[in-house]
Amino acid sequence: MILIDQAITIDYGPLAGLIGTWRGDKGIDIAPEPDGKEINPFYETITFSAVGDVTNAETQVLVVIHYRQIVQRKSNDKVFHDETGYWYWDDQAGVIIQSLTIPRAVSLLAGGNYDGSVNDDGSVTLEVNASEADQDWHIIQSPFMQKNARTTKFQHLININTNSLKYSETTIVDIYGKEFVHTDQNELIRE
Ligand code: HEM
Repeated sequence: MILIDQAITIDYGPLAGLIGTWRGDKGIDIAPEPDGKEINPFYETITFSAVGDVTNAETQVLVVIHYRQIVQRKSNDKVFHDETGYWYWDDQAGVIIQSLTIPRAVSLLAGGNYDGSVNDDGSVTLEVNASEADQDWHIIQSPFMQKNARTTKFQHLININTNSLKYSETTIVDIYGKEFVHTDQNELIRE
């Protein structure tokens, strides 16, 4: 059962620092093109909202945060990436999970471990990974995408400090007859 009314009293562990609205204008996207790549400077807003906790099979307790990420090209202000999903923390297992969906008919569930360590500057670094070959942390995509623009791997590193959030994502896409390393990174400030 999701306890929305208790969201404020819940301990979100390493995810606690995410809750809020973040903006950043130092984004760099490297994306595939038939004849090579395109480099897109961008700005974005990410909103993380507390959901509460959920108990699975009366055993596993996950605390959950929902997010929405809206990314705009600096060159023309158009939204060119719109992503949503959840971050989950399983305190007992020490496991972090990110689920995401992008409107290209691609979804994934990425996982990683977090041992409670804090960096010298007080920040927390989380890493999650998903792969087509991994049955636990897996990627799901439409038949068209499987055939023409297949995501085979995803890695996400995120560094959370009181008022700063930095991330770097590497998405491997099998497209135009080659394996393309699609990357995105940005630094955001709490609103
Ligand atoms: C800040 C995050 C991201 C931005 C700004 C971004 C941007 C882009 C851009 C500009 C393209 C090229 C589109 C085109 O040429 O029409 C692209 C392609 C693609 N992206 Fe992303 N992307 C992001 C994250 C992701 C993530 C997280 C995934 C999947 C896990 C993903 C999967 C893909 C795939 C499969 C393609 C190939 C489709 C195509 O080019 O026709 N992207 N992305």
